[in-house]
Amino acid sequence: MKTIKVNISNAFGAISEGTVSGMLPEASEALSKVENGTGAGNDFLGWVKLPLETTPDLVDDIMATARRLRSECEYVVCVGIGGSYLGAKAVIEALSDSFAAYREDGSTKVVFAGQNIGEDYMHELLQLLDGKKFGIVVISKSGTTTEPAIAFRLLKEKLEKQAGKKKAAELTVAITDAKRGALRQLATEEGYKTFVIADNVGGRFSVLTPVGLLPIAVAGFDIRALLHGAAEMEEATKAATLENQSLLYAATRNALYRAGKKTEILANFNPKLHYFGEWWKQLYGESEGKDGKGIFPAAVDLTTDLHSMGQWIQEGERTIFETVISVETSEHELRVPSDADNLNYIAGKRIDEVNKMAELGTRIAHVDGGVPNIQITIPALHEQWLGQLIYFFEKACGISGYLLGVNPFNQPGVEAYKRNMFALLEKPGYENETAAIRAKM
Ligand code: PA5
Repeated sequence: MKTIKVNISNAFGAISEGTVSGMLPEASEALSKVENGTGAGNDFLGWVKLPLETTPDLVDDIMATARRLRSECEYVVCVGIGGSYLGAKAVIEALSDSFAAYREDGSTKVVFAGQNIGEDYMHELLQLLDGKKFGIVVISKSGTTTEPAIAFRLLKEKLEKQAGKKKAAELTVAITDAKRGALRQLATEEGYKTFVIADNVGGRFSVLTPVGLLPIAVAGFDIRALLHGAAEMEEATKAATLENQSLLYAATRNALYRAGKKTEILANFNPKLHYFGEWWKQLYGESEGKDGKGIFPAAVDLTTDLHSMGQWIQEGERTIFETVISVETSEHELRVPSDADNLNYIAGKRIDEVNKMAELGTRIAHVDGGVPNIQITIPALHEQWLGQLIYFFEKACGISGYLLGVNPFNQPGVEAYKRNMFALLEKPGYENETAAIRAKM
């Protein structure tokens, strides 16, 4: 079986091969906590066995719902934030034609809302949908998150006005908790088609549930292949050895952290992976940044950001390490044409070959500049490999969080801004907080 590969040979300097292999007993214990549910947050481990346990019936139901939305809608708006947004966005961007939004090819366009509180963003979206056939996939595990709730109200109102209440209900799908939350209640009242987010799967680990699978299927991609890839990685990351790529990555990044490398920069050399970096930042940031600890997850798109962040990475404070996602092959072939300029030494070469040389040159320069490097290679941007990559990072995140000594599955810090916002907006029940925050202003 072909799987993604982790290469840590360029991480040595700040740490050694012996440092990583010396972490095997600790990393094995962390893996066992993830596999056997014996660590903190063990009520949120539903994602671990998800790829192999997802039933064909559920996949069929998701695909049938996606087909119905695609056949009836010019646009499908996916409403959600954080874990209810980033996974789908990452996979769709990675697999899509970069200019899909501008092609008038009759295909259903997937757009996103509820991932911000931008008034202009919502105004412009509503304008785009004016007179158009559209559907809504509203996603919120808690069913109470402010950002998607606002976007959904506006979209629901628009859809009901344009399509009528009955048809609007048919064109709305809700993905939420089985019983709790305002969205579940509304979905029941309005008769929406619904999918359930299991109690034991946290938002940032939910891309392989209907949360990610339905938007990805609506965008026209093969969710069976995605799950197949994830299942391959589920099998491949069970063993307590350094051959287990998730364990190897988790152990290496923690060894680097302990050696003073406090920031990890996830780099890609493929613009389609920009949102994969955003998904990864949430996965690791929310899982590890707590109790005064945690590797700061940053992401760059290269070579683009070599012309902005390159200087810092090459010569800034030596507290960083870099993890590069290398994509082995590109989908299309394109060669540099020759012309009467000083670029003729690359004439005739594949664009991808030039990109690969940029990648290699950058990796060597950064390693020479004191930036340890981890390389993760995937064969291509295809559903199967993305499924592997998703599961690889999720498994590594659980192991890594336990190595760090935190509960990787909670996010108590996310509540602080919400409390302040509710107090400032004078939400009923927050009267004391309103008085306290006003006193600070
Ligand atoms: O990972 C998480 O738990 C969060 O990022 C949530 O996904 C995010 O806050 C959205 O929550 P909800 O799906 O309840 O609206």
